[in-house]
Amino acid sequence: MMITSPLQLVLVLFLFAPCSAQAAQRQRLMATADNSDTAVFVTARGTRLWQGSKEYHICGANYWQAMNLGMATGESSDRARVHQDLSQLQAAGINTVRILASSEGSQLTADPPGRLHPVLMPQAGHYDESVLHGLDWFVAQLAKYNMTAVVSLGNYWTWSGGAAQMVSWATNTSIPYPAQWDPVKQKMAPGDYQSFLAYTNRFFDPNDMAYPVAQKIYRSHVAHIIGRVNGVTGRAYANEPTVLAWELMNEPQVSPYVGQWIAGTARLIRTLDPHHLVTPGAECKNGKQWFNVMHHAPDISLASCHFWAANWGLYNASDPTSASLLGAIGHMQRFMRDTVAWAHSLGLPVALLEYGLGRDAWGVGAGLKAYQPETKVTHRDAYFESVCRASRDSGYVGTAFWAYGGTAPRWIY
Ligand SMILES: *[C@@H]1O[C@H](CO)[C@@H](O)[C@H](O)[C@H]1NC(C)=O
Ligand SMILES: *[C@@H]1O[C@H](CO)[C@@H](O)[C@H](O)[C@H]1NC(C)=O
Ligand SMILES: *[C@@H]1O[C@H](CO)[C@@H](O)[C@H](O)[C@H]1NC(C)=O
Repeated sequence: MMITSPLQLVLVLFLFAPCSAQAAQRQRLMATADNSDTAVFVTARGTRLWQGSKEYHICGANYWQAMNLGMATGESSDRARVHQDLSQLQAAGINTVRILASSEGSQLTADPPGRLHPVLMPQAGHYDESVLHGLDWFVAQLAKYNMTAVVSLGNYWTWSGGAAQMVSWATNTSIPYPAQWDPVKQKMAPGDYQSFLAYTNRFFDPNDMAYPVAQKIYRSHVAHIIGRVNGVTGRAYANEPTVLAWELMNEPQVSPYVGQWIAGTARLIRTLDPHHLVTPGAECKNGKQWFNVMHHAPDISLASCHFWAANWGLYNASDPTSASLLGAIGHMQRFMRDTVAWAHSLGLPVALLEYGLGRDAWGVGAGLKAYQPETKVTHRDAYFESVCRASRDSGYVGTAFWAYGGTAPRWIY
């Protein structure tokens, strides 16, 4: 998701509801489970996922703070919280977390405000080893909770630096940030979205002067993570069955060269690592033609979609009526039916790797009420249930809600 409002930041911290339908199904699976399949790669056969002889349904949570919490020391480190969060998630039936294995930008500035910190890559091609080790440690914990991870290798949006930061490094120019919420000043910082898109899309454009350097930074990063030997498990990431899929980038946006970029990057990953599923990280909000552009490459083995009812103007968060909720559910169901048909016609399984909805804090004047755990979640619970049901009924391979903040004692970015 692109973080444009205070609500979205806080969704990160407090959103939580188990995928109860899938959790129940998993309970039934566990009753007859043997343990022999747990260290087996998740693979795609036809339009389904499998772990050994068992079908694998993603019952997922976004948990992008993983590598920062996993650090041994420092401002973002909190390993006790990771254990507590993963225990809670496991108890709720979650078997997959979607995490970031990238963040870029100066370690010294908070530009833009709210960017993930400490940063994995503070200068082009240079790593903060303590953050990398945080990733190693986190990934090593997942097996204890019988979980897999969808691992994102980049970001279109600037809350972790992302493609725009690489263009900035390549051109020595400043990023024209879009308007976004400043959590320090507690107000919107101005900006122009179209200028931001044009700037960031230079990342994909082989005719742009930024391209060779930006791509070198990105592709070296991909090779660095996939080829890395985990300092905790001693296993190369390429051989790590806990990794369910490599995701090229969180939410690449439409642009003339994005399809070509996805195909080339997926090829690179496939040559480095023949085992893992590869997914572009797309939202699928731009219709069938763009869905095909982002998923047609032969090295893409899992389709991904995101659905953001309120952000896309399909749910009015100020309207408490059930008609409002049912409207959003209708849009979501249609979206899932359409995207599953598009994915299956390309022969791909498809997962809904982001969706979310706010608390029952109606009206623009709701203020902090929208973020407080005491505020009810009647719309959200009903909506989440419907998403999980739609996933199962439509032939999706699973879902991951945005996002689990767990026992966050403070805000981390
Ligand atoms: C681990 O998870 C998989 C899929 O989520 C399940 O099939 C298996 O039974 C689980 N194993 C244990 C030991 O819980
Ligand atoms: C980058 O830009 C800054 C400010 O515009 C300038 O001071 C610096 O010399 C530039 N660096 C390079 C390598 O061009
Ligand atoms: C959203 O709902 C509120 C409360 O019913 C209403 O006042 C407002 O006009 C609605 N907004 C839109 C865009 O429909």
